[in-house]
Amino acid sequence: MKRAVLILSLIAVSSAFDADKFLSDNCAVKYNLFNYGSKIKEITCQNFQLTEQEAKHFEREHFSFGDSIKTIVFKDCELAALNDNVFSKFPGAKKITIENCKINLGWSKEEEKQNATHPAIEKVTITDSTIKNSVGSNAFAHLFALKELIIRNSDFEHKIIDGKLLEGSKALKILKITGCGIEDIDKNAFVNLSELEVLKLHTNKLKALHPTLLRNNRKLEIVDFSGNEIKEIPLNASFLTNYVFFPDNIQKLNLSHNLINHIENKNFKNMRKMYYLDLSHNNIDGLSDGCFDELFDDSGRIKAFLFENTLDLSYNSIKYIGRNTLFSRKPKYLTRLDLSHNKIEEVGALDNIYKLKFLDFSYNNIMKIDMSSKEKLKDGAILTGNTFLIE
Ligand SMILES: *[C@@H]1O[C@H](CO)[C@@H](O)[C@H](O)[C@H]1NC(C)=O
Ligand SMILES: *[C@@H]1O[C@H](CO)[C@@H](O)[C@H](O)[C@H]1NC(C)=O
Ligand SMILES: *[C@@H]1O[C@H](CO)[C@@H](O)[C@H](O)[C@H]1NC(C)=O
Ligand SMILES: *[C@@H]1O[C@H](CO)[C@@H](O)[C@H](O)[C@H]1NC(C)=O
Repeated sequence: MKRAVLILSLIAVSSAFDADKFLSDNCAVKYNLFNYGSKIKEITCQNFQLTEQEAKHFEREHFSFGDSIKTIVFKDCELAALNDNVFSKFPGAKKITIENCKINLGWSKEEEKQNATHPAIEKVTITDSTIKNSVGSNAFAHLFALKELIIRNSDFEHKIIDGKLLEGSKALKILKITGCGIEDIDKNAFVNLSELEVLKLHTNKLKALHPTLLRNNRKLEIVDFSGNEIKEIPLNASFLTNYVFFPDNIQKLNLSHNLINHIENKNFKNMRKMYYLDLSHNNIDGLSDGCFDELFDDSGRIKAFLFENTLDLSYNSIKYIGRNTLFSRKPKYLTRLDLSHNKIEEVGALDNIYKLKFLDFSYNNIMKIDMSSKEKLKDGAILTGNTFLIE
């Protein structure tokens, strides 16, 4: 009799597990059945708490997953210690998503790191969570396969990305830490991320960037520091004379909505692959001659066919545009230049910026335009909202 009941319940359970997604409330159930040919690919665990001790023996206290599970979602939870011990309990998992949880990121005891295994997790996403990140804890240290780390709209207890956090994540290609109130980044935080292609740190509270922060990230293509409080683009560190802050492989760079007030002509040196530079909504009023000379030039060629090559300087405090102000030679592939909503009073000779598809001088205080520029500006430039318009 007992036996019959057991068989019946096994049948019931296995048919429930035919779906490839599984939702578990409170997670504290033993799902050893996963090991017996389950097809479940994704499991969502919600409304649960995991103490540090439980995290260590995760599979015993909770569930032991088979290799079939590729995606783990933790929702509305408290994790007393999120580290390799937890990650390694999902041998087949490629993706972990954590939503609305309270997490203690890292290790409480240094010696426990020694036993960490190397799970195959490629993507970790943490959103809308509270993160306790003790400085020096390397929660992702052994995720050697990690390619993508996204932390969004979460509260970091220590408002810093410290040197240890990403120490072992050497395969990382995409890093996004946005809307997390980050105020500072250790100068070595990205030093081992030589494969990094996308770096998005927008909507934080960064005030300054260490001059050598990106020194080892030569493969970066897309960088977004917008929506911070950055006052200047770091120039060469005193110990490296010709050092340029941005790696020259960058193609799209967003520095908008910061407090930058000056552009030096070395800020964008060698960056010939750029097709989109957004510097709008800053306080720029100082531009050294030819400061954008090396952008939108030779090797930007391939990009030129795919995108509108854009330099956006709108919503700044620029007062004067003259012969060499932005470019001291013609940028071959620039197609869009936005200078609207500045304080431009005078436009000098525009030898190097014309014949663009889009040229916007609207909402400035233009009073005076050099004779040689009048004809060029008539040709399609947007000039509305100025005190003086050429007739
Ligand atoms: C590491 O593993 C060894 C062998 O399994 C075990 O004896 C030791 O207690 C473990 N250390 C920690 C800190 O868990
Ligand atoms: C970078 O990698 C080296 C070699 O694996 C390691 O010793 C060092 O601690 C790492 N540094 C950082 C800041 O990640
Ligand atoms: C670069 O570093 C050198 C040496 O410290 C310094 O003299 C120079 O002014 C710095 N700035 C630029 C733009 O080269
Ligand atoms: C740059 O960032 C701002 C604010 O985050 C955003 O509104 C804008 O669209 C971005 N620009 C580009 C070119 O992606």
